[in-house]
Amino acid sequence: MKFLVLHGPNLNLLGRREPGIYGSQTLEDINSSLFELSTDLGCELSFFQSNSEGELIDTIQAVSNECQGILINPAAYTHTSIAICDALSAVGLPCVEVHLSNIHRRETFRHKSMVAPVVVGQICGFGQDSYLLGLRALFNHVKNK
Ligand code: DQA
Repeated sequence: MKFLVLHGPNLNLLGRREPGIYGSQTLEDINSSLFELSTDLGCELSFFQSNSEGELIDTIQAVSNECQGILINPAAYTHTSIAICDALSAVGLPCVEVHLSNIHRRETFRHKSMVAPVVVGQICGFGQDSYLLGLRALFNHVKNK
């Protein structure tokens, strides 16, 4: 089983980006923890981060034949991107949406997720654990299908 882990804009700055909100772990730390979990679960991961909406969409399209699911933190594009929502919908792979922060406790513009209608579920507010819980949830969802 193989999954794509997709990180949206500004997540490359984790560790030094507003640590009070996003924590002190870097993106590399998060990817390492996900990799460790994937070896326990017995699945394969590929990782991609971009600050560009088009690159995220190209990657979603490109992996559609080689992956069984997508773990995605679309970051700010969560709240704006009909195009990412359409891409996820178009490839038809099961997706889990994750956020480090609890977007529903923050500014009202963060309360709306454009991708929520096309994902299996959303996990937010647990920092790095949102990703780890998300991977477990995606793995179990695909395994039990
Ligand atoms: C985020 C929440 C978004 O609102 C924000 O734009 C991000 C990160 C999170 O992981 O908490 O960049 O997706």
